[in-house]
Amino acid sequence: MCGIVGILSTRPVAADLVDALRRLEYRGYDSAGIATVEGGHLERRRAEGKLRNLESRLLSEPLEGNVGIGHTRWATHGKPTERNAHPHMTARVSVVHNGIIENFRELREELTAAGHTFETDTDTESVVHLITDEMDKGRSPVDAVKAALSRLKGAFALAIIFAGEDNLMMAARLGSPLVIGHGDGEMYLGSDAIAIAPFTDTVTYLDEGDYAVLHRDRLEVFDKDGRPAVRTPVKSQANALLIDKGNHRHFMAKEIHEQPEVISHTLAHYVDMAQGVIRMPEMGIDLAKIPRITIAACGTAFYAGLVAKYWIERYARVPVEIDIASELRYREAPLPEGGLAVFVSQSGETADTLATLRYCRENGQHIASVVNVRTSTIARESDVVLPTLAGPEIGVASTKAFTCQLTALACLAIAIGRARGAIDETRERELVRELVEVPRQIANQLLDETQFETLAHLLTKTRDVLFLGRGVSFPLAMEGALKLKEISYLHAEGYAAGELKHGPIALIDENVPVIVVAPRDSLFDKTVSNVQEVAARGGQIMLITDAPSEEAGCPLAAHIAMPLAHEFTNPIVYAIPIQLIAYHTAVLMGTDVDQPRNLAKSVTVE
Ligand code: AGP
Repeated sequence: MCGIVGILSTRPVAADLVDALRRLEYRGYDSAGIATVEGGHLERRRAEGKLRNLESRLLSEPLEGNVGIGHTRWATHGKPTERNAHPHMTARVSVVHNGIIENFRELREELTAAGHTFETDTDTESVVHLITDEMDKGRSPVDAVKAALSRLKGAFALAIIFAGEDNLMMAARLGSPLVIGHGDGEMYLGSDAIAIAPFTDTVTYLDEGDYAVLHRDRLEVFDKDGRPAVRTPVKSQANALLIDKGNHRHFMAKEIHEQPEVISHTLAHYVDMAQGVIRMPEMGIDLAKIPRITIAACGTAFYAGLVAKYWIERYARVPVEIDIASELRYREAPLPEGGLAVFVSQSGETADTLATLRYCRENGQHIASVVNVRTSTIARESDVVLPTLAGPEIGVASTKAFTCQLTALACLAIAIGRARGAIDETRERELVRELVEVPRQIANQLLDETQFETLAHLLTKTRDVLFLGRGVSFPLAMEGALKLKEISYLHAEGYAAGELKHGPIALIDENVPVIVVAPRDSLFDKTVSNVQEVAARGGQIMLITDAPSEEAGCPLAAHIAMPLAHEFTNPIVYAIPIQLIAYHTAVLMGTDVDQPRNLAKSVTVE
């Protein structure tokens, strides 16, 4: 994951910028750089590889400026070369960026036509020229940034400095975190509080959509609508913990909010953003020839695998056998010659999943694993590892790992489809375009959680909750039930919506809320019929859908309005409301949200 830092001071800042970048090394990177304002103009030093290479460069070519920005880059658009390393700049502006600018090609074409010359393959460079273009039109630095932000589409965090301005820095965030540190006549900026912990423990967290104007002695923050906003400084815990909660009450909340950023980084691992196609690592097996895929996992990871079953069978036309790991291994499922077995695990240490991996290997399967910890046992015993770049997940309830698992599995499904000719290049580009939009769609959902707090109040008064979904939304219903029960301790069950009338409908009365995951896809009308069966028996319907509420054709206890997404990406986008429903219910129930009773983050016993 990329890291951003910035320092506004009256003393040279280059060494402290590198020190701050070193504290972001845990995020992973492949190049680094800093830029400062030197005697009124912009200077920068960049280097491929580790920070020591940048430090060597600075020893031979020092920077003396008192205002500067820095970046550790995890390559998304363009190879990890010095040329593509941040900061990017023109003579007037320098920018560091974390995230994905979705409409960078369109902006690049427009700015090239306006006479701007691009040097790199990165999406970030479009931001630099866009701000420069606004300043060339006579706008002040602050107004130029404001105008540029209104043109950007995607999930991003930005830090910006200007030639001739040695007491000005700007910052903006949508989908990637940014924190501002307050010093004595100095200001600091970081992707998280860890980066600036050596300088201050008094920090201000920017909210989604905020942008900020930093001067050495004052901070002005503006909200997503450009209105002045008050963001209260807090004491950072970063000194105590390498991983801190940021401005969130729980790790789970922080990790829910990290999803736009970490999905972007997971996407960048599998998607060639410049070409708009999938680039999988060497799988070590001919994807065109595998007779069947077997998927095994536990808990939330299993539900990610279940979504993958729908994707792979529908888009790649390969049969998928899936089971929870603790069952697959003991039923001695017959496995095909030359088959591919895929194991999904956040920790990479789950005993049931590991045991089943070994069973599948003993039975001649090629082993792939989708893991969040690359040094884990499951990763080490796999023929190929498909990493999720979710970063450390502290909350026991898996959230960002789940959506990163879905992201990696979606890319795998496309790659298998392409290898078998079930998906042509046009379809691939269409599906990839939809995937690249997901971080922004999730960031926009996270701008306002009030509807989930309201719904949570209704749930705290109940003892039994049903979640329903059809097709690829059925695993989401199961995951929603698991999330709710594991952190709020309310009893919840997930069912295929079509299954309700075969028994579970006997449970329905006015005391049983029914939460329905119903994107307006090809199965929406059938799901609506099930909703009406529930309503006819007095059940309380809570509908999560991008369709207007009146299309339910019955009264609703709650209507969670969702962004219009694509049938392919709905499972990732619809993970957010079910996570937030569980989170806000658990907060109201007063349970230990991050460490729920009886549970462990990684179950290393069978
Ligand atoms: C999910 O919220 C739970 N923490 C649990 O079901 C978890 O997904 C399961 O134990 C699998 O863990 P893993 O992904 O580390 O293998």
